[in-house]
Amino acid sequence: MEFTVNGTPVRAEVDLRTSLLDLLRDHLGLTGSKKGCNQGACGACTVLVDGERINACLALAVQYQGRDITTVEGLSGPEGLHRLQQAFVEHDGFQCGYCTPGQLCSAVGMMGEVRRGMPSVVTADLAAPVAVLSSEELRERMSGNLCRCGAYNGIVEAIAETFESGADRQPAAWKEAA
Ligand code: FES
Ligand code: FES
Repeated sequence: MEFTVNGTPVRAEVDLRTSLLDLLRDHLGLTGSKKGCNQGACGACTVLVDGERINACLALAVQYQGRDITTVEGLSGPEGLHRLQQAFVEHDGFQCGYCTPGQLCSAVGMMGEVRRGMPSVVTADLAAPVAVLSSEELRERMSGNLCRCGAYNGIVEAIAETFESGADRQPAAWKEAA
């Protein structure tokens, strides 16, 4: 199977039943993406595929051949941390290393969804372009990413600040192709 992972072409010979998460962690050594529940409930395994967030534990690697995959390791670039990563630091938006990678990847994908006008379950007017990421919208859209130690307030502040700054869609691995 061939993929582009964090901007680098990779080739892997793995069993067809291998999940994308296991491919990344066990075969490519990218252990940033975490295995929490392994059943789609916690969001710790969230990665970006062509800029869209998915739960890598629920995905078969074979389904994503030829696609551009970005893990938390690929969010930063030669210029340093992604703006959202920096905001997490500044707002104390993390306490453990377990949920944070998924929170970061999910937030980058989520902000792209908002910018494309995709509504959420709390969007009142489904026909209106969604340009405002209200606190309610932000919390609903990030509800698939669980944090057991209660860093939510810092996470919300970091995402809101990054979205307002307009610096959200810049993973080094895929910004050139966007
Ligand atoms: S490990 Fe994938 S959602 Fe929990
Ligand atoms: S920061 Fe990871 S569970 Fe809270």
